Amino acid sequence: MDLASAVKSNNQAKAPSATDIHEDKRLKMLSATIKRYQYQQDALIEILHKAQELFGYLKKDVLVYIAHQLKLPPSTVYGVATFYHFFSLAPIGRHSCMVCTGTACYVKGAEEILNSLENSIHIRPGETSADGQISLLTARCLGPCGIAPVVVFDDTVLGDQTPESVGDRIKGWLQNGSS
Ligand code: FES
Repeated sequence: MDLASAVKSNNQAKAPSATDIHEDKRLKMLSATIKRYQYQQDALIEILHKAQELFGYLKKDVLVYIAHQLKLPPSTVYGVATFYHFFSLAPIGRHSCMVCTGTACYVKGAEEILNSLENSIHIRPGETSADGQISLLTARCLGPCGIAPVVVFDDTVLGDQTPESVGDRIKGWLQNGSS
């Protein structure tokens, strides 16, 4: 079951108990953050940011916990977490490759880039390679549409990308291991 259906079917999911909270320091810190925002539903994005900072990504049980605390349907929390490209629902790899799929980039070949990555490193958007080296992400529009298609390699934004240029960059990461 994927995360979307897991969260969907989890409307009645049990949120972590008080004991769980005390057992997990990070959850305790998240709980303090939620309290600081006075359980306001409007603070959902800030709270999701804090959760990602604490856990590295937005785990399913953490999303359910936040939904429970803010008295929001889990599907709403999941929807917000998936809408914004800066949130990740899976562990992030050592390197990240974010392909812009906004209109300009899509028209200029973002789909071909994603297809070639799927064929070469066998991961889809939102997934991390089995060796934990590379996470593939997508974003709706990163801003510099004039240089579409745009891909962000870790923190480096590059335009005019092709399946070949992206493949070369990824190969470099894989060959160098730690670079
Ligand atoms: S659509 Fe890709 S940068 Fe705007």
